[in-house]
Amino acid sequence: MYSGKRSESSATLSGLDSPVGAKVAIVTGASRGIGHGIAERLLEIGYCVVANSRHITAADTLEAGDRLKLIDGDIGSPYVAKLVVDSAIHNFGRLDLLVNNAGVFIPKPFAEYTVEDFRIATDTNLGGFLYVSQLAASQMRLQKSGHIISITSSIVAQPVAGLTASFINLTKGGLESVTRALAVEFARDGVRFNTVSPGVVNTPMHQVETHEFLKQLGPLNRLAEIAEVVDWVEFLETAPFLNGEVIHLDGGAHAGKR
Ligand SMILES: NC(=O)c1ccc[n+]([C@@H]2O[C@H](COP(=O)([O-])OP(=O)(O)OC[C@H]3O[C@@H](n4cnc5c(N)ncnc54)[C@H](OP(=O)(O)O)[C@@H]3O)[C@@H](O)[C@H]2O)c1
Repeated sequence: MYSGKRSESSATLSGLDSPVGAKVAIVTGASRGIGHGIAERLLEIGYCVVANSRHITAADTLEAGDRLKLIDGDIGSPYVAKLVVDSAIHNFGRLDLLVNNAGVFIPKPFAEYTVEDFRIATDTNLGGFLYVSQLAASQMRLQKSGHIISITSSIVAQPVAGLTASFINLTKGGLESVTRALAVEFARDGVRFNTVSPGVVNTPMHQVETHEFLKQLGPLNRLAEIAEVVDWVEFLETAPFLNGEVIHLDGGAHAGKR
């Protein structure tokens, strides 16, 4: 577990605060759930991390330190996206990994979605990808290396009868498609784009009372655990020939009807 304290062996890089050779990552939506798990794992394996969410300081779930900076704010705002990327560069000198994890799930019958639902879903799921990815990809292009991972959802590939949430398809479907487009656009710049597309994950997003219903939506009759998503993010970092990939981590839900 990362303690937030400086390790005795840490040195500085170009006068910056990052241990020499440490990789640098940004994780959005890191105050709880999947993003929190990803940020903790990256710290454990030696990364310097900039963690963002709207209330990440108040959440008090990660302790800022020499290798962890916290940035409060809505990642759908271009201003916050710039603060986050600037924090990585100013504090740690580079950026190796961006995990676009912040997202909202608004389950409703299609005809009942409101203008406000549309604004929240597009601002967070699309705007929250767009601005920070543009800035991150530009920095990575300068470095000639980097990796951008987005977290989507298995219902993009296989909508489920009885689970009406088409705004996920509308927004996260775009992320899966743009992952492929950008993997091609940035390949010669050394920047990779991949996506992890989970089924239902055991996070604070779902109230415990809904778990039994949600479990029976998937072939394996269980929820994914946060660590299973985190394992894939870590693996993708170690697999340089994987690019433009969508990893379906859903117990087979994407393969067909249960
Ligand atoms: N849980 C699942 O079953 C499941 C399945 C498939 C895909 N996913 C995807 O996985 C990602 C994480 O899901 P989760 O279950 O871990 O969600 P969660 O428990 O609801 O946590 C969401 C995180 O995102 C942050 N966040 C929300 N809106 C934000 C914004 N506008 N700007 C910055 N941060 C924001 C929240 O913190 P603040 O409130 O402090 O902003 C929180 O840290 C989402 O993209 C979700 O769509 C989840």
